[in-house]
Amino acid sequence: MTMTDDPTDQAGAEVPGPGRRSLLTLLPMQGHTRGKRSAVTCHLKCADACSHPAPNLSTNGYFRDVVNSAFSRRALLAGAGAGAAAVVIGGAAGGAAAPAAAAPSGPGKLPFVPIAPVPNTVDDVVVPNGYSWKTIIRWGDPLFSTADTFDPSNQTAELQARQFGYNCDYLDVIAEPNGTRGVLVANHEYTNENIMFPPAADEDEANTQRRVALASHGMTVADVTRSGKGTPWTYVVGGPRNRRVTPETVFAFTGPAAGDVLLQTVEDPTGTRVRGTFNNCAGGTTPWGTVLSGEENFNQYFKAAGTPEQQRYGIGGSGDFRGWANVDPRYDGVANPGYANEPNRFGWIVEIDPEDPTSMPVKHTALGRFKHEGANVHVGRDGHVVAYMGDDERFDYLYKFVSKHTMRPGNSAKARAFNKTLLSEGDLFVARFDGDSSAAEITGDGTLPSDGEFDGSGVWIPLVVDGESTVPGMTTAEVLVHTRLAGDAVGATKMDRPEDVEPNPVTGRVYIACTNNTNRGIGDYPKADEANPRTRNRYGHVIELTEAGGDVTATTFGWSILIVAGDPATDPTTYFAGFPPAKVSPISCPDNVAFDADGTLWISTDGQPGTIGLCDGLFKVPLTGAERGHVQQFLSVPREAETCGPVIHDRDGSVFVAVQHPGEDGDWSDQHSFFPDYVAPGTLSGGKWGGPRPSVIQVVRD
Ligand code: FEO
Ligand code: CA
Ligand code: CA
Repeated sequence: MTMTDDPTDQAGAEVPGPGRRSLLTLLPMQGHTRGKRSAVTCHLKCADACSHPAPNLSTNGYFRDVVNSAFSRRALLAGAGAGAAAVVIGGAAGGAAAPAAAAPSGPGKLPFVPIAPVPNTVDDVVVPNGYSWKTIIRWGDPLFSTADTFDPSNQTAELQARQFGYNCDYLDVIAEPNGTRGVLVANHEYTNENIMFPPAADEDEANTQRRVALASHGMTVADVTRSGKGTPWTYVVGGPRNRRVTPETVFAFTGPAAGDVLLQTVEDPTGTRVRGTFNNCAGGTTPWGTVLSGEENFNQYFKAAGTPEQQRYGIGGSGDFRGWANVDPRYDGVANPGYANEPNRFGWIVEIDPEDPTSMPVKHTALGRFKHEGANVHVGRDGHVVAYMGDDERFDYLYKFVSKHTMRPGNSAKARAFNKTLLSEGDLFVARFDGDSSAAEITGDGTLPSDGEFDGSGVWIPLVVDGESTVPGMTTAEVLVHTRLAGDAVGATKMDRPEDVEPNPVTGRVYIACTNNTNRGIGDYPKADEANPRTRNRYGHVIELTEAGGDVTATTFGWSILIVAGDPATDPTTYFAGFPPAKVSPISCPDNVAFDADGTLWISTDGQPGTIGLCDGLFKVPLTGAERGHVQQFLSVPREAETCGPVIHDRDGSVFVAVQHPGEDGDWSDQHSFFPDYVAPGTLSGGKWGGPRPSVIQVVRD
């Protein structure tokens, strides 16, 4: 365990060693729910998605012949309203952790001895011996002027829009090779008002806080500098590329659905421009240097009529519990029918160019609309680019986009401008996974089938080809705006919440983090299948997908499950590509994935505190040779936080993560985390605050 900042060096109200330690180990866990997350995360991050029936009530998956049957949209939509009872799964935080392997991890440029698993009450970043961590940028840090000082008791929307936002998720640090300059890009997924603000005295103050919360969403671009290769990065106040993208930033729609009536509102009768982005979760940096970001749980911000199409996305009902409709009518399409289509304008992949802070960012309708975790691009042999995407909802789907045009080489202004259009035109597919073992062998208890693997083949089923819908009864715009319904119609495989989906830049194989699905096999919900092989899947799994012929544009693929996650000390259903379970670090709820320069997989988690009783972390997983499947924990994040956006610069001796929602179960007057400033509760001095601040940190070799 290493802290770069010795607490005795910190400005402001100092906490001496024992006092600081008392801040690091705080109150017992409380309020945990079924599944994995705390009650607060469930409420604020995804609007209690797990407390509602999973919105995929389609019969797809029960009857294979639906693939070839005529598509009856009316029948489908009529069926979408049928209810399935929510199933409550009990269970408290899990048992003792298995000991981590004691051998140094290798090969690679970041050798480390795995850290021991960290109990979920520890409010600290834990890294291996020989490494230390430092904060690069925190919630509230000024981007444009040091005069924009952070004071959580007196924030305004105008100030927040000039500061680093809340709950950083996707992250990249795009460094000039061997240089001293770079640019940091981060998503700001959602807000934890309970710990961000003091209780509002009246409705005016509540509305001020709502506006601040709105301005805390979106994305940040910030210049970073360092003194030389291998040294820590520092962000630059007033850097020329610095930018905040917020729910007020104007975006242009691209692709076949741009301008369609489904995207038109009273504010934008052309259906071509939209204010803002929010609930930006994961993402990916493109080969041409732009950043893609997924609009994920956008449903929770809107009051809506709850049409069948909206219900398929969880829109309607109790939406807008943040009260944004109090400060902007577009969030209430019931009271303001002119905004009935406003929810259709979210749920997209957005693309921003961090090199040009004046450029208008875009939303790509060709990539479909769903609860986009993110998108990651790989270039095929022939230059076509492919984007892999997961829809993070229980029983929802995996998608792939293939560009019509091929990428132009080089980084000239002309090539770059062209490549920024690649995601505007192309074909969209959804995945069907076919196991190669008999259904009778998939028992749901994690027992491997007789061929020794959960594996099989798969098909990329077309939804849009050459700009035309291939889904009977749906127009191209309907397929792209109501993409989940299109996936239902063609028999896509219902997955256990596919989050990050990333191609390995070295091998081209694709890794899919299925974070969990505690409804799998429960009641009327779909039973375990070979690609989602555990009933009541609390701990998640990771699938390795290999495109036919190694061609990312192929329409068929092979797959196998790399990891069936959990704590092997207490769960015999775990599997680590055949590596001895007793030698791995326990891991639960895989969420984001990344690769180092050698193509070794790194996985960050979201949900360990509520499932295996440990803080979330970052894990290295070799994919080749005798070490294949050897999960080794590299770091652990503070109490009640999630590990996001891992960036592995192994050649530079650096690892970056975004620490999201530290201390989320606390309250303004009862904070559970003091990361990263670790000063006395409630104090604000010398730029440090005695409460949690979601932050980007860098881990470096000493
Ligand atoms: Fe925002 Fe699916 O995690
Ligand atoms: Ca098999
Ligand atoms: Ca995520």
